[in-house]
Amino acid sequence: MQAELDRIVSEALAVFAQANDSPRLEQDKARFLGKSGSLTELLKSLGKLDPAARKDAGAAINAAKSAIEGALDERRRTLVDDALAARLAQEEIDVSLPGRGRGRGAIHPVTRTQQRVEAIFRSIGFDIADGPEIETDWYNFTALNNPENHPARSMQDTFYIDGRDTEGKRLLLRTHTSPMQVRYARMHRPPIKVIAPGRTYRVDSDATHSPMFNQVEGLWIDEAISFAHLKGVYTDFLQTFFETDQLQVRFRPSFFPFTEPSAEVDMAFGSGPLKGRWLEISGAGQVHPAVIRNFGLDPERYLGFAFGSGLERLTMLRYGVSDLRLFFENDLRFLQQFQR
Ligand code: DAH
Repeated sequence: MQAELDRIVSEALAVFAQANDSPRLEQDKARFLGKSGSLTELLKSLGKLDPAARKDAGAAINAAKSAIEGALDERRRTLVDDALAARLAQEEIDVSLPGRGRGRGAIHPVTRTQQRVEAIFRSIGFDIADGPEIETDWYNFTALNNPENHPARSMQDTFYIDGRDTEGKRLLLRTHTSPMQVRYARMHRPPIKVIAPGRTYRVDSDATHSPMFNQVEGLWIDEAISFAHLKGVYTDFLQTFFETDQLQVRFRPSFFPFTEPSAEVDMAFGSGPLKGRWLEISGAGQVHPAVIRNFGLDPERYLGFAFGSGLERLTMLRYGVSDLRLFFENDLRFLQQFQR
C-alpha cells in the first residue's frame, strides 16, 4: 500500500510540474483526486480491509492526499505568479526611451493674415461674410457693371465650369470677391458695413500670380459715406495691419467698372528694406450708381465705398516673402517659420 501511495504521489508531483497553465493543471488534478482518480480508488478499497489495517491505511492515504493537495496549491500559485510576471514583462514601458514627439500645427500665414484683417475690421464695426466660390455670370460681372462684350470682362481670365445658371449662362469660379458686395447688399438694409474674405480664381500663374488666390472685399454703404471715409478707413487699416503709423498711403486714379471714381491704393513703408518704395496694395473706389441699383437701393439716397485687396499680397509685404508660390507648395521648412 505505502509503495503504491508513494508512486501515486511522485507521479502527481511530476504531472503537476509539467502543467503549464491553470486549465491543464485542474484537468490533471482529476486524475488523482477526482471521482475516479487513483487516490479515490484506493480510498474506496479501504472497505475490504479489517478495522485495524483500515485505520493505518486510511492515515497513509490521507497523508498522500495532503501531499498531493499541497503540491497542487503550490503549482497553482506558481502558475498565477508566472502569468502575472509574463504580462508585466509584456506591458512594460521603457521610460528611458526618448519621446516620439508630436509636430506642432500652425496657422498658414495667409490664413493668419485673414484672421488679422477680420479682427481689425470687426473692431470698427464691420460684419464678416462668406460667399460661394462657384458664381454666376450676373453676380461676378453683370451686376458689377461689366457690360456684355465689354473689354472689361476680358480683363480677367476666367475659369468656367460645366454647369449653367437659370439664364443658361455658364457658371464660373469667381474671379474676385466683389460679387459678395452684391450678394450681401441684397440681403441687408443700410447701413451696410461688411468685409468678405475668401478664395478667388484666375487663369494666371507666375511668381506673383497663382490660379487660386485670396482676396478680401470691403463695402460700406450708407447715406453719407464718401471717398474721404475710404481714405480714412483704409489708411487706418494698413497702419494697424503693419503695426506702424510711419506708413504712407496714396490713392492713384484708376479704372474699375463697379466704382466711380476708382483708385489704386499704394503704400510705402517708413522703414525697413522696402522703405520709401510705393507698393500697390488694393483696388478701391466710390461704388458706381449702377451697382447701388443692383444692390436694390436708390443711388440718389445711398452711396459708399468698396475695396478689394489681395491677402497673399498683404502677407508677402508683412513677412517679406518674395515668391507667392511658396504659400501653396506646403514646404514645411517655409511654413514652420510662421509657428509661434
Ligand atoms: N475686384 C477687383 C479686382 O479683383 C478689386 C477691386 C477694385 C475691388 C475696386 C473693389 C473695388 O471693391 O472698389 O481686381
